[in-house]
Amino acid sequence: MTDLKLKYKNINMKNTLFKALYESAKILKEYFGRGFKIESKDVISNLVTEVDKKSEEKIIEIIKKDFPEHDILSEEVGKVGTASDTKWIIDPIDGTINYAHSIPLCCISIGIEYKGEILMGGVFNPFSDEMFFSEKGKGAFLNNREIRVSDESELSKSLLVTGFPYDPSKNPNSLKTFAEFLSIDVPVRRLGSAALDICWTACGRFDGFWEFNLNPWDVSAGYLILKEAGGMVTDFKGNNYSIYSKQILATNGKIHDQMLTHIKKAIEN
Ligand code: IPD
Ligand code: CA
Ligand code: CA
Repeated sequence: MTDLKLKYKNINMKNTLFKALYESAKILKEYFGRGFKIESKDVISNLVTEVDKKSEEKIIEIIKKDFPEHDILSEEVGKVGTASDTKWIIDPIDGTINYAHSIPLCCISIGIEYKGEILMGGVFNPFSDEMFFSEKGKGAFLNNREIRVSDESELSKSLLVTGFPYDPSKNPNSLKTFAEFLSIDVPVRRLGSAALDICWTACGRFDGFWEFNLNPWDVSAGYLILKEAGGMVTDFKGNNYSIYSKQILATNGKIHDQMLTHIKKAIEN
């Protein structure tokens, strides 16, 4: 594809991405705090609501209309198509438990992968009206204002955030790492939306985030947003990160090694 064709394709994808985020946001707002069907998935606490499905349906309809040839990977329906270089990776509600309890800490997250790299990503919390967006090589934005990670270089002065797998008994390391940071008096929050956790790290509210067992739809957009905001992302050994990996450490870069040391220590014990 020529540079010009790629440029126009990107502009169109950006329009579609924003349209999908805004249209699905209308659905989240319409049902928020009202009665809707809630079911459990693999474990009782892993919920899916009628609204997750409606949001997902709307997003896919919008993408398919503009880019029928593109692949999709979405939390509730899984893979749609496998033949394209471009894949839209969708979490129709990240923070479903919050949403189901009328807690407005949740978002819609959509990342676009092109030939294995995340090219564009948007994370929208319709209840705070915060739209995080990034395009590779062009910086990261919160409601059109450029964002940067924090400057904090001391772990002891940092504020961290994490999340837990729905069945933490299957992953004791997740509780061990949480206990490790608390034991050294570093405050840790748990918001319940991994995509927001990463975006809030990207804009400097948090200094670092880690979690085990996330899925590509939780992290695809946030990963790019944090990187473009000057942050660092690796696995728990400090190796290059992939959105398909089961370990994520996403920080402002300055406390990355300090966090790695404590995560390694917690896992080894
Ligand atoms: C969940 C949230 C939560 C994280 C879980 C995820 P969902 O996504 O991101 O913060 O701790 O591991 O599964 O189920 O609300 O889309
Ligand atoms: Ca999620
Ligand atoms: Ca979800």
